Amino acid sequence: MNHKIAPSLLAANFLNLQRDIEMINQSEADWLHLDIMDGVFVPNISFGFPILDALKSVCRKPMDVHLMIVEPQKFIPEIKAMGAYMMNVHYEACTHLHRTVAAIKEAGMKAAVTLNPHTPISLLEDILQDLDMVLLMSVNPGYGGQKFIEHSVEKTARLKDMILSKGLNTLIEVDGGVNMQTAKRLLDVGADVLVAGSFVFNAPDPLKTIQELKAL
Ligand code: DX5
Ligand code: ZN
Repeated sequence: MNHKIAPSLLAANFLNLQRDIEMINQSEADWLHLDIMDGVFVPNISFGFPILDALKSVCRKPMDVHLMIVEPQKFIPEIKAMGAYMMNVHYEACTHLHRTVAAIKEAGMKAAVTLNPHTPISLLEDILQDLDMVLLMSVNPGYGGQKFIEHSVEKTARLKDMILSKGLNTLIEVDGGVNMQTAKRLLDVGADVLVAGSFVFNAPDPLKTIQELKAL
């Protein structure tokens, strides 16, 4: 399999971020997933630009930035300036999604649209062709360490069918409650990128856990 693993920094030790990012640099992880929350779109606040600025000098993996904020289009220049590879905006947070996706790409980043667990994939019908990736939330966004929502497996399978039936090669990323068991099931139905926060950082040996997720 050539799926990607994107550990989420949300579950790292914030008193030792440099150490944890250096661990990711040495690991088989493909991307570093960064969760930005505003306390409005989601009921939690994580970290913002001063932290992102500091870590961009240490991180050597492509940065996959997941914006759980209202009006994410306002921050396209800042996200670009931090060196992001992928910018994920929530479908539920963007009134003019097509314009936002175009602006992300014009800024030189890959564009992804994220769906909350209740948001149907059918809403992507007229935007899918413009996306580099769709991020399916398999928990309600806002916190790490939540229980995987079972319906996400079937939703991933349907999204894969939709992508293939359109002749596209859009990536599918799944985020929330990923562990060895859920990872395997998601990969079996066509997920391309798996985000894993607590499963990686709370593991006794995070490097080995990343390696095992890659080997699935
Ligand atoms: C949730 C975030 C996730 C989170 C996943 O709002 O988008 O990226 O860090 O954490 P785990 O893997 O612990 O469910
Ligand atoms: Zn995330």
